[in-house]
Amino acid sequence: MTRSKIILCRSAALIAVLSSVAPAQTLRELAQKRGVLIGTAHSGRTSDTEYLDLMGREFNQVEAENATKFGPIHPAEDSYNFAPVDTMVEYAAAHKMRVRGHVFVWHNQNPKWITDGGLSPEQLAAALQKHIATVGGRYRGKIFAWDVVNEAFLDNGSLRDTVWLNKPGIGLNGTKYMEKSFRWAREADPDAKLFYNDYSAEGVNAKSDAIYEMAKDFKKRGVPIDGIGLQAHLRLSAAGNLASIEANIKRITELGLQVHITELDVRIPVDASGKASESDIEAQAKLYGAVASICLKYPLCTSIQTWGFTDKYSWIPRTYPGFGAALLLDRAFQPKPAYKALLDALAATK
Ligand code: XIL
Repeated sequence: MTRSKIILCRSAALIAVLSSVAPAQTLRELAQKRGVLIGTAHSGRTSDTEYLDLMGREFNQVEAENATKFGPIHPAEDSYNFAPVDTMVEYAAAHKMRVRGHVFVWHNQNPKWITDGGLSPEQLAAALQKHIATVGGRYRGKIFAWDVVNEAFLDNGSLRDTVWLNKPGIGLNGTKYMEKSFRWAREADPDAKLFYNDYSAEGVNAKSDAIYEMAKDFKKRGVPIDGIGLQAHLRLSAAGNLASIEANIKRITELGLQVHITELDVRIPVDASGKASESDIEAQAKLYGAVASICLKYPLCTSIQTWGFTDKYSWIPRTYPGFGAALLLDRAFQPKPAYKALLDALAATK
């Protein structure tokens, strides 16, 4: 045996001994102990094996960042693009991860045949029902929770004007089109947990009030809704809103609904090379920890999911110029203080 091989063997043995004494704690190990899910959006970079390995090591839930949206998965009336989703579902099974589905009804990333196809309200309703039945049905038993509707309210609490509500809409007023969608989703997969998902609705405000009222009404009338997804695309200023975020999570769970934190990231200012200040990186870590700790206080807050896990593939820099560094690991996959803060929050005793 060469000297370098001996050293390699020795260090492998040492690692084995160390890990049997003090097993490495990953996010998913700690989350499992707490009985919560820790998830990430999957960017679809299936050729980056380091990325895939880390994702499987750290998370026990995954959600496609784009592949399950209407346009990507159903680009033409008679054509579906299931392959990327099938690949993700197989990856998740191999890594014992749950899969969240995102999303059936949204105003963005719809295909042209829906938005510009000249469909009548009746045709549009039939197309949506068929879409939900086909996609929901295909992944029945494989996708455990679906965002049925995404971002249907404006920040002032009124309903967003979308191709589903209007132009020409599926022919139902107010929140009725969402009610229908939830019923269709339940038919497609009776066991999937069904969520309404939105942004800027983490704290108590006009938008989250409107969502709360709809959810309460749905619960009262037996419309099949199981939870509210709080996206949580945050800025550091959210640190001043934590009491309000907690109050909102509390009131939702008091309705008997689950809360999933679905798209957590904390964007901070970066320079031209993508670098953020140390103090912002520390403040970001605190915010990640605080949001996770709030969720962990409520047994019905059952999932904490970040919108990606490495700054290498975050949507933030291309969406919010001047901002970045929003996730747990840096672009070289090195853990940032935010990663440690999330670990600590998960490890903390109740
Ligand atoms: C974003 C993706 O991250 C981007 O890759 C894509 O270009 C646009 O959509 N709220 C949502 C997500 O519900 O679907 C969005 O994802 C981010 C905001």
